[in-house]
Amino acid sequence: PTPSPAGIIIFGASGDLSFRKLIPSIFKLFKNRKLINFYLLGIGRTKMSNEEFRHKILESLNNSYDKILINKFINHAYFLSGNYNDDSLYSELKNRIKSLNEKHNTNNNLLFYFATPPHIYLPIINHLGKSNLTIENKNYSRVIIEKPFGKDLETAKELDNELQKHLKESQIYRIDHYLGKETVQNMMMMRFANIVFEPIWNYKYIDHIQITVSETLGVENRIGYFENTGLLRDMFQNHILQLLTLIAMEPPASLDSDMIHDEKIKVLKSIRPYNVKEIHKRIIRGQYTEGYVDGDFKTSYIDEVGKKSKIETFIATKLYIDNWRWSGVPFYLRTGKRLKKKISEVAIIFKDVPHSIFSDFHPVKIEPNSLVIRIQPDEGFTLTLQAKQPGSKICINTLNMEFKYKNFFDFEPQDAYERLILDALLGDQTLYVRNDVMEESWKLVTPILEYWKNSDDLFYYPSGSWGPKEAFELIEKDNRNWRNL
Ligand code: BG6
Repeated sequence: PTPSPAGIIIFGASGDLSFRKLIPSIFKLFKNRKLINFYLLGIGRTKMSNEEFRHKILESLNNSYDKILINKFINHAYFLSGNYNDDSLYSELKNRIKSLNEKHNTNNNLLFYFATPPHIYLPIINHLGKSNLTIENKNYSRVIIEKPFGKDLETAKELDNELQKHLKESQIYRIDHYLGKETVQNMMMMRFANIVFEPIWNYKYIDHIQITVSETLGVENRIGYFENTGLLRDMFQNHILQLLTLIAMEPPASLDSDMIHDEKIKVLKSIRPYNVKEIHKRIIRGQYTEGYVDGDFKTSYIDEVGKKSKIETFIATKLYIDNWRWSGVPFYLRTGKRLKKKISEVAIIFKDVPHSIFSDFHPVKIEPNSLVIRIQPDEGFTLTLQAKQPGSKICINTLNMEFKYKNFFDFEPQDAYERLILDALLGDQTLYVRNDVMEESWKLVTPILEYWKNSDDLFYYPSGSWGPKEAFELIEKDNRNWRNL
């Protein structure tokens, strides 16, 4: 489907996210003829003319695409500089919206994107509300909000209350870019468009589940943000928990957005809470020290920050979902920066066969089956099976049934932001985070954040490793191992 005409207004348009992700995605939508009547209005504190903004866009897109097309695109781009706390910015914004709407025939439809530092969200929303820019009247007015959505349960609720004063839930799009990834969307397809998995997708056949989201990059130029955030907020509260809900939820009755969110919320509510006494046993936080990643020397986090810091760049945890389907099945989750490889995957490890008739001939334990969903890179999935090795002896070997997107489809993964911005233009909230889902995930992680404030258990790991040894102990004490990636 092609969305209705609209004005796209980015707050924080001169920032990194805007040039790295948002503008290229909006350009791709234009290139694919999903945006025809539209304008892109960037807002930022940096003083910039329309021409300068256009020039920056041109520079950032150059080399990758057809120049004529880029030139057509930048004719839709404008910039407005100002202070987010000043009334004058919003009166000027209102005027600009009015004239751009007339010029580009956008039916007064507005899609705002909040890509500023999060403490500015509140003043922006209040001003938009006061200026009547959030009112829908034959047109739409929608707001996409970048994470972090709050710092903990209380601040997330505060922000939400403020948003709800000016907007209906149907106007609020809380973004989690993992949900826009092709392979993440495929998780629902795989589970609910095939009948073979569902009967075994439970405690009877699954021994445990592992989710790994590892990165080789450190915090790079985002130290300021990261020192106030840490990995639990940056990756776990959102991306990892979203992956978990997709793997663990019950089949929704339809693809209706609310039905899917209803199932997600049930999973989150069933996760065994982190009770203070056992937090240190259930979640390991780590921080990288110096080391080598792909042969290159990297300094420690402390050196990058320039002071002592307890901020975590790694976490590993074990959790349970206390419901009928998942009773007793542990979920081991790990995510970190400066690890050995960049990989995101979900692995379902099935139980052993109940009785091995091969044990006399094959003394080694038969490997259990596993299904690995590879989110990135090498998008696809692998099912491991046991088979007879050819020959006169009874010898069992593991073989992989492998599906790779790139071998099957003409596949260049679409950027998650492109898909998600398109959905917001179309008014589809399925791949966004509903308010109760967001709150429930903060409910789960807030006790951990509280506990860490006064605790010293932070474990170190060299850059280029798979995390601190305590993360291995977490799983090994259950006689299981992290997958060897
Ligand atoms: C972002 C985090 O949400 O996700 C970053 O803020 C992280 O710290 C990034 O690097 C990872 O995303 P991707 O798409 O590269 O896996």
